Amino acid sequence: MPQLTVEGVGQFEVPQGKRLVLALEQDAAIDQLHACGGQARCTTCRVEFLAGEPDRMTAAERDVLAARGLSGIRLSCQITCEHDMSVRATSRLEGSGRKDAGHPPAAEIQPPPQWIEK
Ligand code: FES
Repeated sequence: MPQLTVEGVGQFEVPQGKRLVLALEQDAAIDQLHACGGQARCTTCRVEFLAGEPDRMTAAERDVLAARGLSGIRLSCQITCEHDMSVRATSRLEGSGRKDAGHPPAAEIQPPPQWIEK
């Protein structure tokens, strides 16, 4: 199983293919934001990769990052755990002023992924 390292939190074995946003919330047990429910719209599920950044991304991730002029981050709702990864989770419920982390993301990537090279 892939190993997920979350800076300052720990290392976790996560099921192959699990959405990263769900691994952060369920396996690493952090208060990761996902305001749009994992639909590639809000960008609050953002993480910074320290190692193991995937080479592929969904077209939806590319489009929302470009529309908002964001770089140096990835959207955890658009990534599955296929290999060892190390991330910095900076978008958390605590201190955000939000009442909750957002709607629960589905088990599968939404919208249905169209994979592209990063
Ligand atoms: S973009 Fe909203 S949860 Fe990922």
